[in-house]
Amino acid sequence: EDFLATVATKSNGAALRGNYEHMDAHYVVQQDWHAYTEAEHELWRKLYQRQLALLPGRACQEFIDALEKMDAADGIPVFEKTSKELFAATGWTIVAVPGLIPELTFFDHLANRRFPVTVWLRKPEEFNYIVEPDVFHDFFGHVPLLFNPVFADYIQRYGQGGLKAMKLGGLDELARLYWYTVEFGLINTPEGVRIYGAGILSSGGEVEYCLTPGTQSRHIRLDIERCLRTLYKIDSYQETYFVIDSFQQLFDGTAPDFTPLYEKLKHLDVLPANTLLPHEVELLPAPH
Ligand code: PHE
Ligand code: FE
Repeated sequence: EDFLATVATKSNGAALRGNYEHMDAHYVVQQDWHAYTEAEHELWRKLYQRQLALLPGRACQEFIDALEKMDAADGIPVFEKTSKELFAATGWTIVAVPGLIPELTFFDHLANRRFPVTVWLRKPEEFNYIVEPDVFHDFFGHVPLLFNPVFADYIQRYGQGGLKAMKLGGLDELARLYWYTVEFGLINTPEGVRIYGAGILSSGGEVEYCLTPGTQSRHIRLDIERCLRTLYKIDSYQETYFVIDSFQQLFDGTAPDFTPLYEKLKHLDVLPANTLLPHEVELLPAPH
């Protein structure tokens, strides 16, 4: 299998985590909920409670409200149950996957309003930090905002945009937008800046870190072109967080055809993660 070989090489020969034996052509598997152990359910409850306590005043209200309605505190959830509720709310479903999946497959799921959720849970020693997305990151972090109609539409269109970017050589650029919005995005609200990014909301440390002044990180307003040029950190807290005013801004800002943008970006340098351009205003200053 092409993809499995590629990933194995990328991660220095380390085996791809997850069981890829019983999947269909779209990398979809059965969740096999009964196979989870009581120790795993207990680990989920601990992860859930720790994160939940961090959310008030930090996570956006849309996330908190949807999470509460999902009723997923008591053990690893049954995907099918939430999937039905999600379908009724926004027409999205959840599909179970063995772990990381190829880009084409990932985009195809999103473009068809299917969100891939990894079936396996991290080990206890990975309580605070995990490299690959597991069921806690995918389900707790990503699923709640799929109940928001505008955000749900944005993710679908991102999937369509991904399929297009693959043909236009814009994949690295478009991936940065996903990273800085879906995974690490912040949003302005009347009550103050709040988190909507799943990578932050499923992290034990970054929820507090990303809103704290005086760290090595800064907040700047999201500008799509600027974001597409900006490199990101995969093994530490982010150095830049892009702030939006509304999910509608994300949806509208990504509506235009990106073809000319990808062309333009081929002639511009990428920007390091800690860049501050001369005209940019820091909403939350970092020390320099
Ligand atoms: N509008 C983008 C294009 O034409 C696609 C896109 C949609 C990208 C939504 C990101 C988010 O390629
Ligand atoms: Fe994620």
